Amino acid sequence: MKLEAMRELLKKSLPTKRFNHSVAVYETALALAKIYDADEKKVAISALLHDCGREIASRDNLMKAKELGLQIDDVEKNQPILLHAKLGVYYAQHKYGVEDPEILEGIRYHTTGKAGMSKLAKIVYLADMLEPARDFPGVDHLRQVAKEDLERCLFEGFATTIKYLLDGELLIHPDCIAGYNEIATKYKKLSLIDRRISWKWKHKHQNIQSNAAYVSGGCYYLP
Ligand SMILES: [Fe+2]
Ligand SMILES: [Fe+2]
Repeated sequence: MKLEAMRELLKKSLPTKRFNHSVAVYETALALAKIYDADEKKVAISALLHDCGREIASRDNLMKAKELGLQIDDVEKNQPILLHAKLGVYYAQHKYGVEDPEILEGIRYHTTGKAGMSKLAKIVYLADMLEPARDFPGVDHLRQVAKEDLERCLFEGFATTIKYLLDGELLIHPDCIAGYNEIATKYKKLSLIDRRISWKWKHKHQNIQSNAAYVSGGCYYLP
């Protein structure tokens, strides 16, 4: 199915507000795809269809997911709104004829994120969070970071989502935590390398004695 036909079908399937949001996510995602040299055709389809599972009313998500034989985890059982991502993959495949696994991954993880997301999935996740109608504290900062460093923006996006869920006493999906931890681990390793380089330099040039500190079961050499 051509993109234009998908767009027409989506327009008939979603409430106007949700359709307008989908178009805004599509436009935001395309702008990011240009900056980060992603496959624009794939990004366009994934972003446009990311909420196609919303043609089911949220109150019916659980019933529909069971009817289709989809896997439902404990967090989704408690917050069935999350199931629109899995339902979206089903509709993308069976109604819009999408087979490309990367496009489907963007739809599947646009709400929770996960560890090991593709560039396309990162773009769709952030476009959904940052499209122009989104309004939450820090959104303008995130929009700026999105233009400069996609992974940093994803990291801050996860943190923003987790804080929001904590404030609302809502459940946090393990995929979101895994996504956050993956990047946090990378940043922690990088800052550790920076510290080691700085320590080695000081030790060599200033003959500073080493102090070993044991943190979280690992040995961190600090200046
Ligand atoms: Fe969504
Ligand atoms: Fe959305």
